This record gives sequence, C-alpha cells and structure tokens, in this order.
Amino acid sequence: MSNSESRITLPPPRTGGPVSLETAIAQRRSVRRYAPRDLNLEQIGQLLWAAQGITGGRAALRAAPSAGACHPLEFYVCRADGVWHYEPQQHRLVRHLEQDVRAELAEAAWRQRFIAEAPCAFVISAIFERTTRRYGERGRLRYVPMDVGHAAENLLLQAVAMGLASVPVGAFDDTAVKRVLALPRNEEPLYILPVGYPKL
Ligand SMILES: Cc1cc2nc3c(=O)[nH]c(=O)nc-3n(C[C@H](O)[C@H](O)[C@H](O)COP(=O)(O)O)c2cc1C
Repeated sequence: MSNSESRITLPPPRTGGPVSLETAIAQRRSVRRYAPRDLNLEQIGQLLWAAQGITGGRAALRAAPSAGACHPLEFYVCRADGVWHYEPQQHRLVRHLEQDVRAELAEAAWRQRFIAEAPCAFVISAIFERTTRRYGERGRLRYVPMDVGHAAENLLLQAVAMGLASVPVGAFDDTAVKRVLALPRNEEPLYILPVGYPKL
C-alpha cells in the first residue's frame, strides 16, 4: 500500500487451505509478541474476508452470521501507512486516515503496547442502529455483541491457519479509541485485533 492510493482492491480470497479447521482451533492462542515483519495485501484481504467477506450470492450474506442479517459491523485496518476501511461488497480497502495511529491506539487501550508492535491492528466497530431498529434493546445487549464475537473468532482462526498470531483486545477507553480512529458519531468500537507473525 502506498500513501498516494485511496482505494485498494484486495486479491480474491482463497476458500481452501492446507490447515484444517480443527488444527486452527487446537493451535489458536492469544499471542502478544510479534516479529517486525509486515503483512501483505493477500493476508490482510484473507483476514477481512474470513471476518466479514461476502460469501452469500445475491443476498450478499457474509462469512460470519449476523442476527437478522442486519450486519452492524465495520472493519478498519491500522498500519504504518494509515488507517483503511474495509468495504465487503467490493472486497476493497478505502483510505480512512493518512497517519499511523497504532501507538495512539495502544495508549487508548490502557497502554497495551503490543498493539503498536503488530504490523496490523484490526478494529471492529458497530453501528448499533442497524440492529436495534429491528430488535430494540435485545439487539444492543445481545445480538451486536454476538455478531462481533462470531466475526472476531473467524479472523483469529484464519490468522492461525496462515501461520499468523493475534489476541482479541476488549479493554480500552471507548471515547479515546473513537477519537483516535475518527469514527463517525453513530459507530462504537468493540474490538481491537492486532495481527502479526509470532515472535519466536
Ligand atoms: C472479550 C475479550 C476481551 C479480551 N481483552 C483482552 C485485552 O484487552 N488484552 C489482552 O491482552 N487480552 C485480552 N483478551 C484475551 C484473553 O486474555 C485470552 O483469550 C485468555 O487469557 C485466554 O487465552 P487464549 O486466548 O490463549 O485461550 C480478551 C479476550 C476476550 C474474549
């Protein structure tokens, strides 16, 4: 990715691979130390596809289930070259911010510094209204949190299947993360998933 680009079409995702689902489940562990090695677009695209890619034909259903197919989640990728927003329909990244926010993101997550050391930190946010306008309070308390868990676990397992490592981070100052990422007012950050090669 280069600073001059504002849109990046991601390589088509693979739908098969050498690591079985059972192996990925057995090997998944929260890892908080990453080697200083970048991820390429193929890897980033594959992780985003696993979490939220379109898999369901005309109805544009996605890789992770969502209550009532309301799909409240939004995905951001924080890298050295800025912050990118994922558009599942086009399987592409659109530039959201020019600057590297990973250090600030780590600060906003109560100084969990490994977030800044990962080559890539995925942030999952939610637009709650997409679900609450149909399901009300139950959508807010149950369905959106369930949706984000499904999507995050897909990404975590996909990372393992590609020899990468991650940890789900839920401890952060919501307001600070929202400010660091310049999220729209109706969008709430729910999870940070730093991903990198494990440091051996
Ligand atoms: C909802 C949730 C929030 C979490 N938040 C953090 C976090 O802020 N920082 C962190 O280092 N790990 C966090 N974790 C990771 C847990 O500490 C980890 O899953 C747990 O220790 C079990 O280890 P394992 O993932 O290797 O099985 C979180 C996990 C979950 C499910």
